[in-house]
Amino acid sequence: MTGATADPSLLERFPFPFVDDRYRYSTNVEPAGHGLQTVAGLWGDTVVDVDSEYRSELAERAVVLADDPSRHAVLPHMRQAAWDAMFTLMRELATAYPDSMRLTRCPDGSWRWENDILGVTQDFVYGDDTTLPAEPLGFICGQVQEDVVLLDQRNEQMFADAGVVTFAADWSFGFDVGMSFLEIHGPVPRVRREGVITRAHEFIKRLQPHAPYRRTNWTMTIGRRLDVSTERYPDWGPDREMIQHVDDETFGRMVHLRVEVQHLIRLADSGAVMFLIRTYMLPLDQVVTVEPWRRRTADVLAELPSDIADYKGIIKYRDRAAAWLEARKPSEIIAAQDDSMIAYLRG
Ligand code: HEM
Repeated sequence: MTGATADPSLLERFPFPFVDDRYRYSTNVEPAGHGLQTVAGLWGDTVVDVDSEYRSELAERAVVLADDPSRHAVLPHMRQAAWDAMFTLMRELATAYPDSMRLTRCPDGSWRWENDILGVTQDFVYGDDTTLPAEPLGFICGQVQEDVVLLDQRNEQMFADAGVVTFAADWSFGFDVGMSFLEIHGPVPRVRREGVITRAHEFIKRLQPHAPYRRTNWTMTIGRRLDVSTERYPDWGPDREMIQHVDDETFGRMVHLRVEVQHLIRLADSGAVMFLIRTYMLPLDQVVTVEPWRRRTADVLAELPSDIADYKGIIKYRDRAAAWLEARKPSEIIAAQDDSMIAYLRG
């Protein structure tokens, strides 16, 4: 678990996911790389996002990987894609954070990567594994907060054949690696009937280089716990029961709205598709500080169909979360309602 969200920029850059008072699964993709204004600030102006949690989240990733190497896999045919992904992420970092990250070409044709935040300087020859201290995808995933999945395209299908995923929301990368996009989404309720996943699959197959797209997904997590993978279920699963019995103050502090900003990028050199998953969490007691977010989240949770709430793993506490948010109406709204009620009672 990482530190608290005391830093106000985490609220300002929070990618609030709800565009309506009602949520349903959809193929909600849009072109990436431009900032989106929210009532609290802005997010999405860069493809990779470095924030004040950078060091602590990367330290947490290192611990997860040391404990469980199955979170990192590169099937043999994905070696070129792993180099392509590393290079693309370095370019994105250098473009977004030129004061602290640089990728420069040396006169002999090799490259120099510099990451001042972590104190990394690395010279390498593109495609030569012996010039890096680690496998290329593993090397760069030690320097981005995003989880990464690389998809290979063959026989008109996409396959999740490589990745570093340490912050999975209730799924297992080790189990899914090598599976097709359609197989991976098999357990998601509704989506087959509604065509969401087949449309998404067709869309991903047509992605072009230099035209990244993004979407958001959301769920809720108890505690600021990034690694809620299937493998760690014994650690976090019981929290879903425990949270039903805590007092209101603890409930607002512990229950987090968890949002993933997911980028889809066709890699130009290898033709693989890079899927980035960047996870953000905001406790409900901070969600309520932005009144439109409080109201909308309460409405979405109250209306959410049970099969979706069940799949997201929030069925046991979503009614309380909706009621908790609803009860925190700003006092002037409550006062206005009280006034109109008094007027009504007086006739
Ligand atoms: C436009 C693209 C995509 C769409 C519309 C989409 C849609 C969805 C939806 C609706 C869910 C259920 C989420 C929930 O209930 O919280 C889901 C889960 C998931 N998606 Fe996607 N997805 C897309 C891309 C991808 C890609 C590229 C991957 C990479 C392999 C991926 C991997 C997963 C995984 C692992 C899960 C969890 C499945 C489980 O519970 O085992 N998705 N996706």
